[in-house]
Amino acid sequence: MKHYLTLNDLTSIETAIQEAMALKSDPYKYKYLGAQKTLVMLFFNASLRTRLSTEKAAKHLGMEVIVLNVTDSWQLEFEAGVVMNLESSEHVKEAAQVISQYADILAVRAFPSLKNKEKDQSEWILTSFVKYATVPVVNMESATGHPLQALADAITIEELKTKKTPKVVLSWAPHPKALPHAVANSFIEMMQASDVNFSIVHPQGYDLDPNIVKETPVSYLQDKALESADFVYVKNWSNYQAYGEVTSQDASWMMTKQKLGSAIFMHCLPVRRNVVVEDAVLDSEQSAVIMQSNNRTYAAQLVLKKILENG
Ligand code: CP
Repeated sequence: MKHYLTLNDLTSIETAIQEAMALKSDPYKYKYLGAQKTLVMLFFNASLRTRLSTEKAAKHLGMEVIVLNVTDSWQLEFEAGVVMNLESSEHVKEAAQVISQYADILAVRAFPSLKNKEKDQSEWILTSFVKYATVPVVNMESATGHPLQALADAITIEELKTKKTPKVVLSWAPHPKALPHAVANSFIEMMQASDVNFSIVHPQGYDLDPNIVKETPVSYLQDKALESADFVYVKNWSNYQAYGEVTSQDASWMMTKQKLGSAIFMHCLPVRRNVVVEDAVLDSEQSAVIMQSNNRTYAAQLVLKKILENG
């Protein structure tokens, strides 16, 4: 693997899941693979799980880890040919090449603006690092995708499923703030590539990018969509058409124990209790959220291992 930017960088999702599960059962099996190699992680946005699980994954492989919160550094410029006489002190052209001297793998977290759809869709921060860095780049959640999360989610479903083709529903939930589409996008792409009976349910007007949803069934009636579900993945996203706006906070879409039935509850975390999902769900045996977070380590470890093996 050269980079891990989207799920398309996995040659085989099925094999990746099996290999990640093998790493989970023996995390230190490749403890010398990353010896004398360094992972640099750049965070343009906050993180709990991605930061800690990716660092743990790298350490399982014997790597050194350096973390930079970009807000602690010089403000970066991404536009070409710009006269840098305003706030930005350093251009990504230099920064990416400089960081590449300290890193064998560079991982980047950069959320969307949720103001300019075209610019966000261009993945300008992630692609700038791919363009100017001289080392492999890993996506730790970008404007439009969170492929490490989606791989961890697929591992979790594989571990918990009790039938060959489970019914999986992605259900929108209310949230007071405008949230990105990245987790939902990557989960959809992962489910489209998996042996599951998958559908999406959300309020009218909250349709996601049609280039991602493609032929996946979409409905607007939550109770009906959840009938006989084996896994319910709950996630808020802001309006994609009225880009980045919060046009509904309909509390009736919050996930409850009653709506969940006997399904497994999934969420990427962090989650707002009693807004997105009620306590009774999160505190029940049906919640897989802690397991999903644990699987983030082995998703990241699989990706770092593949990149290291590529030399
Ligand atoms: N799910 C996830 O990416 O969590 P963090 O934002 O805490 O990294």
